Amino acid sequence: MSELNLNYRFSVAPMMGVTTSSARYMYRLISKEAILFTEMIASQALHRGDYRKILRKQEIESPVVLQVGGSDINLLKYTTALANKFNYQGINLNVGCPSKKVSQGKMGACLMKEAELVRDCLNSMKVESSIDVSLKCRIGVDEFDSYEFFREFISTVLESDIKIIFIHARKAYLKGLDPKKNRTLPELKYDFVYRIKNEFPNINFVMNGGLTDINDCVEQLKYLDGVMVGRAIQANPFFIQEVDNIFYNKNTRVADKQFVVKQYFDYVKNNLETVSTYELLSPLLSLCFGLPGSKKFKQEINELIRARDINKLEDTYLNLIAA
Ligand SMILES: Cc1cc2nc3c(=O)[nH]c(=O)nc-3n(C[C@H](O)[C@H](O)[C@H](O)COP(=O)(O)O)c2cc1C
Repeated sequence: MSELNLNYRFSVAPMMGVTTSSARYMYRLISKEAILFTEMIASQALHRGDYRKILRKQEIESPVVLQVGGSDINLLKYTTALANKFNYQGINLNVGCPSKKVSQGKMGACLMKEAELVRDCLNSMKVESSIDVSLKCRIGVDEFDSYEFFREFISTVLESDIKIIFIHARKAYLKGLDPKKNRTLPELKYDFVYRIKNEFPNINFVMNGGLTDINDCVEQLKYLDGVMVGRAIQANPFFIQEVDNIFYNKNTRVADKQFVVKQYFDYVKNNLETVSTYELLSPLLSLCFGLPGSKKFKQEINELIRARDINKLEDTYLNLIAA
């Protein structure tokens, strides 16, 4: 659909502690087209902290959307200008995170109760830059879980003239459930998302939540403009190996596992001095998803990670994949 710079048919969801710059580098070796998101970054952190370090990324990662948390209009304006300056192709406001700490900072899902404020935040972000501005939300929060509430929320935030909304199709509980349980216990209600698309057909709506099979993702495109997948990719980055062909009609070769591992280890070796070992090596842990003996292999890998023995680690991976 028009008026957006990027094609959001398939996105890798923002995941704190997971979608780091290094993980995005790995995902990009597997899919050239999927839209990648950063972890959520608080706009306050960019204001007070070392924004150059926080926003560091490699050119190869593009297109990348910077996900931010916040509700201070001026700070969000400033953050959008930074996103533009640091060559992010889009900026996304998170109003879906239910964590207590995030709520205390007036960020995340608690803002679903303040639709006008969310609208004004998005407005200020839109005015600041021509990169795509988007929203990621839930379908409700606490006792505000009717379709009518959701519709009213969407209708109000759309006054900001944004063109795309990512919807995690569950409500969030702000009290009594931690973020992990908030991703499984509240019931998935895909019908809320289909209904909202019918009511606002000119807006792009992206389905998120519980998609674990690529064929189910394709099915969603019959009704919606795109899908966003998180945990299935965290567990197995090769989940996205056919995204370019299936979702973007590109006739490209499916990424070869050996090639991805080799390229990623080149990246690791080149960045050992500047990026934390944890960030560099944690995306590797899920690369052998589903392979026989992967449990024993993970123990071996953890030991090599602790020893920082990168060459041996690389050989071990390549041998396992070859086998
Ligand atoms: C470890 C982890 C961290 C997450 N961090 C974020 C985040 O920073 N911002 C956000 O909007 N959602 C975050 N989420 C939620 C995901 O983006 C997504 O909405 C959720 O996992 C449902 O999609 P899925 O069923 O495909 O995983 C996180 C999820 C996980 C598993």
